[in-house]
Amino acid sequence: MNPEYSPFTPNQPVNADFFTGRKSQIEDLLSTVRKAARGSLQIGWIAGERGMGKSSLASFVSFLAERDEHALSAHVHLGGVRKLEDMVRETHLSLLKDNQSKSWGKNLLSLFGERVKQIGLFGVEIQLDMSDKELMATTNNFTTSLGRIIEKAGNDRNVLFLILDDINGLADNPRFAHWLKSMMDSVATSRTDVPVCLIFVGLEERLDKMRESNPSVGRIFRPLISIRPWEQSESERFFQNAFSKRNIGIGKSNVKFLAEYSGGLPVLAHEIGDSVWRRAKDNTIDGDDCIQGIVEAAYSVGTRFIEKEVIQALQSRKYRSILGKIAKNEGNLDIKFSRKELLSLETFTPTERKSLDNFLRRMMKLGGIAPIKDGERGVYRFPTHMHRIYFLLQAINVAQKGKPDN
Ligand SMILES: Nc1ncnc2c1ncn2[C@@H]1O[C@H](COP(=O)(O)OP(=O)(O)O)[C@@H](O)[C@H]1O
Ligand SMILES: [Mg+2]
Repeated sequence: MNPEYSPFTPNQPVNADFFTGRKSQIEDLLSTVRKAARGSLQIGWIAGERGMGKSSLASFVSFLAERDEHALSAHVHLGGVRKLEDMVRETHLSLLKDNQSKSWGKNLLSLFGERVKQIGLFGVEIQLDMSDKELMATTNNFTTSLGRIIEKAGNDRNVLFLILDDINGLADNPRFAHWLKSMMDSVATSRTDVPVCLIFVGLEERLDKMRESNPSVGRIFRPLISIRPWEQSESERFFQNAFSKRNIGIGKSNVKFLAEYSGGLPVLAHEIGDSVWRRAKDNTIDGDDCIQGIVEAAYSVGTRFIEKEVIQALQSRKYRSILGKIAKNEGNLDIKFSRKELLSLETFTPTERKSLDNFLRRMMKLGGIAPIKDGERGVYRFPTHMHRIYFLLQAINVAQKGKPDN
């Protein structure tokens, strides 16, 4: 079917119409926004693996906060940013850009006066000149600057909701933790209202690392949201909803099949959905579309999410089969397994059992499996949920098991 009408968006935050699940996290975040609106600075963190839906959750909440809580919001993309001053510049720029078509957009522009220029052919691009000195001062008085922005926005906007996305590079910078702490301290002693909610978005491991070297910083983040794969029923709802909104028929067992193989990973669900969409020839999706779609999606996800060396090692049919069996044996959310447990796995052939130690050693070296955090010997995990599901998808190529109804 025509890719232009596909409801699936593998590379973008999801459209509000197709947003699925995350109900309690949304409620937590909105209640944080309401607390901030009463004048107390709130700082949260959304953690989770790549593709799990962190940015989508943040952006959906910002849509709701703007609509229902009179928030002024901006989504700041900080991938690659390592310096606090760059973060501050990007934040102000995003505030101007994301709000330029809103009724309060002009008020923000006027706050920056001469320093802001609307450039480009239609004047939609914005350039913001801030000198190094000014940037440094704004970094040290970040909340004061944000406070001024929300004040200037007008009576209709009560609270500032700021998403600082892909904070990973900054979180590695030791200045970041100090900056956060001194910001909290100065707000606590100043007794002025700061109706601001900052939500940092980043990988769980960065947060862990920062908390290890700086336990008191870890406590600053409330709420601390860690997003996990969807439940099977949520994945099913996602597919059902996406196809039915475009008037495409798909049987229950096929929906179930797609949901199972997406493993609850939103990015994979979109990738699979999109491949199935492209393959389908008419307004009904059949079992073959589903299988082929899954195989194609596995390929494209593999090149984006899985280490090249691991993919190369999977050229070996034996390795693919062993990995597929391990991945299949594990519960949906549990990604831990032990050598002992594997040796008793009934699905292994005698040769596979004999190659197990070699296989484990090699895979550890390549990064296809990893030791568990507290280093228990002979116990392993898949580095991410994506790895486990990817191995499962590869196994489909080997076994073509679980073929759905046609
Ligand atoms: N709650 C959701 N409902 C539907 N699709 C989602 C949801 N969360 C994420 N997605 C989709 O999954 C993919 C990855 O989401 P994204 O928010 O970019 O993840 P992350 O920021 O964690 O890497 C995107 O294609 C997005 O459209
Ligand atoms: Mg993201």
